[in-house]
Amino acid sequence: MKLQSQLNAAFTTLLLIILTAASLVIYSLILDLLIQDEQRQLRETGELLVSFLNEQYGTVSDLRQFNDFLQEQDLQLFMYDRNQNAVLFSTMSMSVVNEFFQQNDFSATNETLWQFGNDKFVTSRILFFPEISGLELILLTPLGDLEVVQQNFFIRLFLVFLIGAAAAVLLSYFLTNKLVTPLSELKVQVKKVEKRQFDDMERVKATGEIKEVEQSVYDMAQELQRYMKSQQTFFQNASHELKTPLMTIQGYAEGIKDGIFDEKESEKGLDVMVTEVKRLKGIINEMILLAKLDSEPSAAEPVELDVKELIDKVVDRAIPLINEKGINFQHIVENNIKIVADEEKLLRAVLNVVFNGIRHANSVVRIEVNRKRDQVEILVEDDGEGIAQEEANQIFHRFVKGKNGETGLGLAIARAIIEQSNGTISVGKSELGGAKFIILLGSGNEK
Ligand SMILES: Nc1ncnc2c1ncn2[C@@H]1O[C@H](COP(=O)(O)OP(=O)(O)OP(=O)(O)O)[C@@H](O)[C@H]1O
Ligand SMILES: [Mg+2]
Repeated sequence: MKLQSQLNAAFTTLLLIILTAASLVIYSLILDLLIQDEQRQLRETGELLVSFLNEQYGTVSDLRQFNDFLQEQDLQLFMYDRNQNAVLFSTMSMSVVNEFFQQNDFSATNETLWQFGNDKFVTSRILFFPEISGLELILLTPLGDLEVVQQNFFIRLFLVFLIGAAAAVLLSYFLTNKLVTPLSELKVQVKKVEKRQFDDMERVKATGEIKEVEQSVYDMAQELQRYMKSQQTFFQNASHELKTPLMTIQGYAEGIKDGIFDEKESEKGLDVMVTEVKRLKGIINEMILLAKLDSEPSAAEPVELDVKELIDKVVDRAIPLINEKGINFQHIVENNIKIVADEEKLLRAVLNVVFNGIRHANSVVRIEVNRKRDQVEILVEDDGEGIAQEEANQIFHRFVKGKNGETGLGLAIARAIIEQSNGTISVGKSELGGAKFIILLGSGNEK
């Protein structure tokens, strides 16, 4: 069953239950109200008659006149004497009066509905003055008359309810349609994501929670598209990176096998082959590491580290390259700065950045570590050619390298490791003239 039909069915059922309950209550209330109103009217008429009779009682001609007036008004009444328990006078015939007298207890003053055969009558009693006289005027109206009014009223009420219910159901159809349409449109868009037709996606007009879901679906599709594109470039670049050394190796191997090279050239060829195989091994190791970082983000083993000790280890490993290039290497680290991270991995990340600096620097590389509110900032700067603004984000992608680059994986690995420790890495311009890498990590002192 479609959502719209479900909503409409639920609403209509609810409406019917409410209307039926309201009708039942109103139907029974109407008769009570009509009876009360009828009694009020009878009392008013009765009081008028009683006051008239109190003044005129005694003269027979007046009484006859009064009787004629009653006949004209079509009033049904008894004059009852409480003391004698007898009806003294009535506008109805004696047989009717007797029948009434047999079926009802005239002395029970709180009985408002009287029986006559199968019919019922509403009564109202008014005492004559003085009370001792025991005279009472009892006026009656058939309940049937009131029931006709009740039914007329109810039929009208039913018609109003029917029109109201029809309008409400139409309105509910309109509203649910408005609610459900964006959902159906969203379903179409989600199908496009499933078929990877990201460029055909259209925005859906909606409000409230549906708009939020629509925004999430749209963001998700964009992220998925970005991810798929990056995966694609990764595979293209990776196959290219692997193919180049393999082709060099193949070229030398075939040359040596076919005896094209002389002894010296073959020797050189073998050296190149060994270097290229080492490079291939290096690339493959880095790719495996990156794949591991992607697939096992929880494999990190964070411990509390002293940053000064970490930087000392970086320097120990970088010293051969520093000496080889004759670099002026400076490191300024405050004492007692702690961070929580996987030591081996973070060392690898910082080393990748530092090796880049040494490789690209003209003469100076500087590492500086500062506390930044609740974070620790590690700066790695050099006086090399620096990185152009437009390349600043690209260089962290896999296999993206500049003109003096090697494989283009070092920074991608560094970023993956740092982001796994909830940190960030970015690049800017250094005052030394070259690149400045800024690594921000959560501080271990804040606990
Ligand atoms: N300190 C720097 N100064 C100038 N350019 C840099 C610096 N660090 C990195 N780059 C540029 O960013 C590119 C990407 O660096 P990345 O470390 O990812 O790869 P790589 O150094 O080329 O190879 P490897 O995977 O061996 O590290 C480099 O090729 C280089 O062009
Ligand atoms: Mg590098």
